[in-house]
Amino acid sequence: MKYLLTSICCCFVLVATAQKVELPTAKFINNDNSAYSTPSFDDSKWVELKTNTNWDSQGFGTYDGYGWYRFHVVMPHFFNTGNPVRLYLGRADDACEVYFNGTLIGKSGAFPTDKGGYVTTWDKPLEFHLESTNPLIKWDADNVISVRVYDGNGLGGLFGPMPYINVMDLIDGIKISPDPIGANKRKVVFSNTFATTINGKCIIESIDEEDQSVISTSTTEVSLAKGQVKQFDIPAVKNNSHGSYAFTFIENTTKKSVAEKQYLPYILTPKTGDAPQINGPKVYGVRPNSPFIFKIPATGKKPLQYSVDNLPEGFTVNQLNGVITGKLSRSGDYKINLIVKNKTGIAKKEFTIKCGDVLALTPPMGWNSWNCWGLSVSDEKLKASAKAMMDKGLIDHGWAYMNIDDGWEAATRNTNGEIVANKKFPDMKKLGDWLHGNGLKFGIYSSPGTTTCGDYLGSYQHEMQDAATYASWGIDYLKYDWCSYGDIHDKNDNSLESYKKPYEVMQTALQKQNRDIVYSLCQYGMKDVWQWGESVNGNCWRTTGDITDTWQSLSSIGFSQTKQYPYAKPGRWNDPDMMIVGQVGWGDHLHNTRLTPDEQYTHVSLWSLLSAPLLIGCDLSKLDNFTLNLLTNDEVIAVNQDVLGRQAKQILIRSNPSEGDYQVWVKELEGGSQAIGIFNTSDKSEVVRFHWNELYLLPKQKVRDLWRQKDLGNFDGMFSTRVPAHGVTLIKITAN
Ligand code: GLA
Repeated sequence: MKYLLTSICCCFVLVATAQKVELPTAKFINNDNSAYSTPSFDDSKWVELKTNTNWDSQGFGTYDGYGWYRFHVVMPHFFNTGNPVRLYLGRADDACEVYFNGTLIGKSGAFPTDKGGYVTTWDKPLEFHLESTNPLIKWDADNVISVRVYDGNGLGGLFGPMPYINVMDLIDGIKISPDPIGANKRKVVFSNTFATTINGKCIIESIDEEDQSVISTSTTEVSLAKGQVKQFDIPAVKNNSHGSYAFTFIENTTKKSVAEKQYLPYILTPKTGDAPQINGPKVYGVRPNSPFIFKIPATGKKPLQYSVDNLPEGFTVNQLNGVITGKLSRSGDYKINLIVKNKTGIAKKEFTIKCGDVLALTPPMGWNSWNCWGLSVSDEKLKASAKAMMDKGLIDHGWAYMNIDDGWEAATRNTNGEIVANKKFPDMKKLGDWLHGNGLKFGIYSSPGTTTCGDYLGSYQHEMQDAATYASWGIDYLKYDWCSYGDIHDKNDNSLESYKKPYEVMQTALQKQNRDIVYSLCQYGMKDVWQWGESVNGNCWRTTGDITDTWQSLSSIGFSQTKQYPYAKPGRWNDPDMMIVGQVGWGDHLHNTRLTPDEQYTHVSLWSLLSAPLLIGCDLSKLDNFTLNLLTNDEVIAVNQDVLGRQAKQILIRSNPSEGDYQVWVKELEGGSQAIGIFNTSDKSEVVRFHWNELYLLPKQKVRDLWRQKDLGNFDGMFSTRVPAHGVTLIKITAN
C-alpha cells in the first residue's frame, strides 16, 4: 500500500509505504544555533539538501564546522503499532546530535566543546528508536527532527544510505549479548527490549571454521515478556580452536531472525625457541654523514649478548641491547656480521649497510598513532605503546618506528615562526632521545597545506624551518599529508607538476638536514603517485583513501593494489595504509578490530606480499596474545622485508559458482623462491586447486606453510589447499 504524505510547513513531499517514510532531503544551514532544535523555528529560507550525500558536493565545498538539518515528517497513525519507531539517518561526517520535536534523543561522536574533545564517528550508522507510547510523537501531524552535525575536516554532513523512518519489527526488539571470548564459563543472554512479548527460538551453534561444519547446536523455544531475559551457557571448545559461535533468535510470527557471531582468535605462529635467532632485514640504507642507528632484532632466551664483526671505524654496538650506532663519511656497501649469543648457542647473520642516497631499503616497520588514538595522541600514550613494543618483544622481530600522526601541533608557531608541539608533548627532543636510546625510531606528521586534515597547523611556507625543527628533535620519518593543500592548489591546474610541487618543496628541505628522514607521501594516490613518487624522493606513498577496520575496507583496498606492482623496489614502496589489527578507534574510545581472525591473517599476509610499509595502528599497551602472535611471525615478516623488494602480482582471480571466489598473489623472493598468498574472498570455506603452470611456475615445487612454519612437502604439478572464508593460505615455494 502506498500512502502519500505532505509535510505541513515545508515544501517537499514525503512518500510512505506502510513500512517506511523516506527522507531524501532536508532543510539545511551551515552555522550553529541552539534555537534550530525548536520545532516552531522558521526554516523556510534555508536551502534544501539531499541527505544521502555530503554538503561539500552541494555547494558547501570547503565548509568545516557546525551545520543543522531539519526534517519535517508527518508520522502516520498506522505506525502506532505498539512497536517502537526507528529513525535511521544514514551517517554523519563527523559527529552529531539528534533532536525530536525539540528534545535530544541521541548523539554520535563528540563535539570539540565536549569533555574529552572531538571524536569522529563518520562511519557509524545512525539509528535512534522512539517507543510508540513516547508523548513526543505527534501522530498524523508535523514532527520536526533536527540534526546538529559537526564536521572536523574534509567532507561533512549527512551522507550514506538514504535516511528513513519505519516501524520496528518484533525481531528488532531482541538483543543478543554473549560474554566476551576469553571469559570463564561464558554465557549468552537473549533479551527483549520492547514492551510487547516476543516468542521465538534461541539457537546456539559452535562451528568449525576450517570447513564451516556445525560442531554442536542447541535450540530452545522461549517467550520473552517486556524486559525479560534468558541466559544460556556457551559450550566450551578446545583451546586454540579455529572456530566460531553463532547465536541466533528466530521470531515465531514473522520467522525473521537476528544473529550474533563470535570468532575465536586462533594462533598459528609457533613459539620462538630458546636458541638465538636474528630477525629483520639484511640491508639498511644510510646517507653519508647521517647518524646510523639500528637495533639488531633477535629472539631467543634472554639474556642475549650482541656483537658485530667487521664494524666500520667509529661504530659501536651496545652488547646488552644490540643497538649499533655510528656515522659513515663515504658511500659504499659495508658488509658486517651480526652475532647474537645466549647460554644455548650463537646466531650469525650477514648484514649490509648501504651508504648512499636511498633510505628505507626494506619497507618501514613500526607503529603509528592514528588508527588508535586519532587526534587524542599524547606523549604518554606513545610511550606506553613504545614500552609495549619493547616489553612484548615486537622490537625483536624488526618493529622499530614510533610515529606520531596528526594532533601533536600547537595552535600557533613561536615568535621565530618555528612549529611547536602542543602541551600533550612536553619535550619532543627528550622523547626522541628516549626512543633512540632504546633502539626505536621516531616519526612525525605534517601537511603541505596551512592546516592538517585534523585542522592542526601545517607546514605551508615554513617547510625549511619545519624540516630543521624535526631534525633537531631527532625525527626519522615524516608523513606528509596533502589535506588543506587542496585549498592552495589551483583547481584549474591539472598538471602533474602542480601535484608534485608541495612534495618537492619539503623534499628539498629534508635533504638539507644532517639526519635521514624517511619521506612518506600521503595524498591518497592522486595522479597515480606510484609513477612519480620516486622522482620527489618519496620512500613510500599512500595509494588510496583511509582504511577502516572492516572486511569491506580491507578487501577493497588490499585487493586493488594491482597496477602499482612495477613501482615497488628498495626505497620505494606502495602504501595501502596502516594496519587495522588489535585495539583501534581513531580517538579516545578504542574497540577490538572488527576483522575476524581469518581476515587479520589475510591482512598481514597481503601487506607482506605487497611489500607495504607495516605500521601497526593499535594501542600496543593493550596487545592481546592473538595480535601479538599475528605480528611476530618471522617467516611472514621476512616476506615483507625481502631484499629484492618486489611487490606481489595478482596472477589468478576467480569469481564464479563452479570455481569459487579466490585470488592468488605471487611475490618473487631473493634466491629464486616465491611467496604465494591464496586468498578466499568468499563467505564460505573453500578448497582451492591450481596447477603451478597457471602461475607460470615450474611443475615441481617444495612448499612451506609460512604461518605454521611447517614444510608441507613436494607438490608435483598441482597444489590444493582449504582456505577459510575471508582467509588465506600463505606459502613459500622453491622449485626442485
Ligand atoms: C588523513 C590521512 C590519515 C591521517 C589523518 C590525520 O585522513 O589519510 O592517515 O593521517 O589525515 O588527520
